[in-house]
Amino acid sequence: MEKEKIAKVLVVFGTRPEAIKMAPVVKGLKRAEGFDTRVCLTGQHREMLDQVMKIFGLTADFDLEVMSSNQTLTGLTCKVLQGMQDVFAQWKPDCVLVQGDTTTVFAAALAAFYEKIDVGHVEAGLRTGCRYSPFPEEMNRCLASRLSMLHFAPTELAKQNLLKENVAVHDVFVTGNTVVDALFDALSYIDGHDQLPRQFAEKFDFLHPQKRLILVTGHRRENFGEGFLDICHAIRELARRESVQIVYPVHLNPNVRKPVNEILKGEKDVHLIEPLDYLAFIYLMRRSYLILTDSGGVQEEAPSLGKPVLVMRDTTERPEAVEAGTVVLVGPHRDKIAAYAKKLLDDDAYYESMARAHNPYGDGRAAGRIVEVLKQRYLYH
Ligand code: UD1
Ligand code: UDP
Repeated sequence: MEKEKIAKVLVVFGTRPEAIKMAPVVKGLKRAEGFDTRVCLTGQHREMLDQVMKIFGLTADFDLEVMSSNQTLTGLTCKVLQGMQDVFAQWKPDCVLVQGDTTTVFAAALAAFYEKIDVGHVEAGLRTGCRYSPFPEEMNRCLASRLSMLHFAPTELAKQNLLKENVAVHDVFVTGNTVVDALFDALSYIDGHDQLPRQFAEKFDFLHPQKRLILVTGHRRENFGEGFLDICHAIRELARRESVQIVYPVHLNPNVRKPVNEILKGEKDVHLIEPLDYLAFIYLMRRSYLILTDSGGVQEEAPSLGKPVLVMRDTTERPEAVEAGTVVLVGPHRDKIAAYAKKLLDDDAYYESMARAHNPYGDGRAAGRIVEVLKQRYLYH
């Protein structure tokens, strides 16, 4: 009798958003028959990565532990390349899966290519078309596409971007974004556990029940320096309004923490807190009136929750929600951030026009589609 095929898949990730978006894929692969699935953390992030591993109940088979304080892109790339080579010497998969546009993605894909291992790219085809914005992510994802053999595009537009770069059409699969799978999982977990909303209410008991909550996140490298100063001044201006309170879970990057603490610490109605675990963050997104962010993942989640988002960037690789009218690009510019936020606070009709729940990025079943493609490619041939 012919022996059943087993495909060896190594899922590699290193930062908070990659872990959130890969969690549904790891779970899907582990549930499916025919795969020997292992998880390799680069450890590009440490605390923020471990938070996600815990919430999703994931464990690592390999951990490169590369993070150092205020790491450089070159240092990080070298460590991930070397670390991946060591992993491949111990366990050689048929396919490496990477997600998104971080340095982990680029370096892990390159290391796999050097060993002639197939690379599958989750969230493929996002593009701004600007070499330095976002930096270094735009280049990371272009290079990841060149190195990949399977491209899991979240939207039709992302697929078109890949086809314009001459990626073969039969290697591109429109799956939706796995962030929606993760979000739906988290929402049903929160709603299925009666005690959780109460626990969160206690955790955030410093919030005023009548004041409108503005939730803020920010970490982009191209905003370091002047951009972050402008962002912080805009936040300070908004917090001085009577009816507003701000919660800002501050990213652990020292280039973010320094200006944020210098400008906003001690400011009335500005709550600077540590990065939140995923469930707590989603609870706060749901409780917020509007969201100010430069994050990719938050831009994709907020439309599902019907929350208006002001994106503090000049470019976006996620135009779908902008076109749908639930996200506005305001750049890291004090006047524009403050003006749009005030409009949302004062003009109910404008607010309602942006606060429509929709899912341009997926239907919550992206991971299943990715697993199906992997089955076709590695098990049924
Ligand atoms: C990285 C990604 C970015 C992604 C973001 C998500 C790159 C170049 N950047 O940016 O694409 O959008 O993650 O958050 O891949 N730090 C800690 N603990 C942590 C995480 C970070 O202390 O858990 C500090 C360290 O000092 C570290 C620094 O933050 O050196 C920067 O981390 P790094 O991963 O290089 O860049 P991010 O700005 O986090
Ligand atoms: N997030 C979180 N805790 C926080 C802030 C954000 O769990 O305190 C989640 C958020 O819901 C989203 C992801 O982290 O899924 C976004 O990560 P980040 O902004 O670090 O990176 P990006 O998406 O910009 O690459």
